[in-house]
Amino acid sequence: MGVAAGELRLGLIGLGTVGSEVVHLLEHNADELARKRNCRLRLVHVASRSIHTKPHPDLGGARLSTDPWAVVRDPELELVVELIGGTEPARSLLLAAIEAGKAVVTANKALLAVHGEEIFSAAEERGVPLGFEASVAGGIPILRTLRESLAADRNHALFGIVNGTCNYILTMMREQDAEFETALRSAQDEGLAEADPSFDIDGIDAAQKLTLLAMLAFGVRVPFEAVYTEGIRQLSQTDILFAREFGYEIKLLAIAKQEGGLVELRVHPTMVPQRSLLAGVGGAYNAIVVQGQALGSSLYFGRGAGGPPTAAAVVSDILDATRTCGLASARQLPGLGYAWKELRSAPIRPMDEVVSEYYVRFQVADQPGVLAAIAGSLAEQSISIASVIQRGRSNSDASVPLVIRTHAAGERNLKAALRQVNQLPVVEGQAVCVRIEENLG
Ligand SMILES: NC(=O)c1ccc[n+]([C@@H]2O[C@H](COP(=O)([O-])OP(=O)(O)OC[C@H]3O[C@@H](n4cnc5c(N)ncnc54)[C@H](OP(=O)(O)O)[C@@H]3O)[C@@H](O)[C@H]2O)c1
Repeated sequence: MGVAAGELRLGLIGLGTVGSEVVHLLEHNADELARKRNCRLRLVHVASRSIHTKPHPDLGGARLSTDPWAVVRDPELELVVELIGGTEPARSLLLAAIEAGKAVVTANKALLAVHGEEIFSAAEERGVPLGFEASVAGGIPILRTLRESLAADRNHALFGIVNGTCNYILTMMREQDAEFETALRSAQDEGLAEADPSFDIDGIDAAQKLTLLAMLAFGVRVPFEAVYTEGIRQLSQTDILFAREFGYEIKLLAIAKQEGGLVELRVHPTMVPQRSLLAGVGGAYNAIVVQGQALGSSLYFGRGAGGPPTAAAVVSDILDATRTCGLASARQLPGLGYAWKELRSAPIRPMDEVVSEYYVRFQVADQPGVLAAIAGSLAEQSISIASVIQRGRSNSDASVPLVIRTHAAGERNLKAALRQVNQLPVVEGQAVCVRIEENLG
């Protein structure tokens, strides 16, 4: 092996699932990484809350600390990797590292989705690299692809399965006839879902990722609060089975579209055609379809989480930083592909104005006239029915599912119709509604 010309001195904060794997990769691939960039990556200082009490990988001769500020303030470091997650102290640590002129790498989508403006602007003003590839879809290099490989194109839509926990649950409901609660427990047993899974199953994690994806894909500022977010708790086995009868699979999709000067941003369960590539993405895998004017549709698929895949993305960001570290004159590519001030403030289409086809499941009394009553409420809102499935009564059930697929209709009209239908005495509980996306490339 040749001798690397330079050296990049790194600090690492957080030695959990991802941090430990970053240490492993840096150690295991050290010679190969040095050959690739003619620069050796040296871990100089590591901080983690339980560093003296929890087992951790061999940290060579690195200085050890329980205080993350010791890393940020270490004058020897050129780059700080933040892998503790959450908002504070991660936000203050990153800003302080940037202010000190250090390059930063993070996997923290929760932080960047909400405090992106402050952090991206600070990095640009200070001229330091900010890597965040691991924050969206783990090991899949989707951010770098949008920023660099697809930079020449104009993207008009993006569809992502970006939460592995939800995809695992929906796959298990489909393939093992499991109900939602059983599939969720299995995800927890597999270490895919937290004890409090709401962040994943209510769509918040996917919405944070969509915020970053849309900024990169369209060059617009996206406030996290502008993403319409709906999770998968309300879905049952019945919905998965009916979807299949109609020729679809149900996925939690993160959707961004740019049409007529408006940007649409939404995360919700979506019926995708069985023939589409996204329908075949099972288990904890992630996949993203990008639709551009020149390229058409392209698909990016892989492991969206887990220590080793996420660590691979973190280390690729560290390698990227070797391009500019120590070279004050080198021109830094902005993290979002555009300088923050170049991002447009695009109007966001209100969810009520979104147009879609819908699957709607009602639980209804098995008696004459029910379908006519529901169809009447839909017709009042100009919603036309594409097809209907009604099951006969089984011996034990007092009510039966009635499933309707609509033609394209406005969200406002559908909500108004459902408010009316949900109040009919023959309808039990609330209707379950899943939007349909046909054109996924
Ligand atoms: N895990 C994944 O698959 C994955 C995928 C994509 C992105 N990410 C992102 O990667 C980041 C790290 O995730 P992770 O799964 O590695 O988390 P984790 O396993 O919970 O590890 C977090 C580590 O940070 C330490 N820590 C937390 N707060 C600290 C503080 N104030 N000072 C010092 N150390 C502190 C923890 O110490 P203790 O051990 O004492 O708690 C732990 O070692 C998060 O932003 C997450 O969203 C993770």
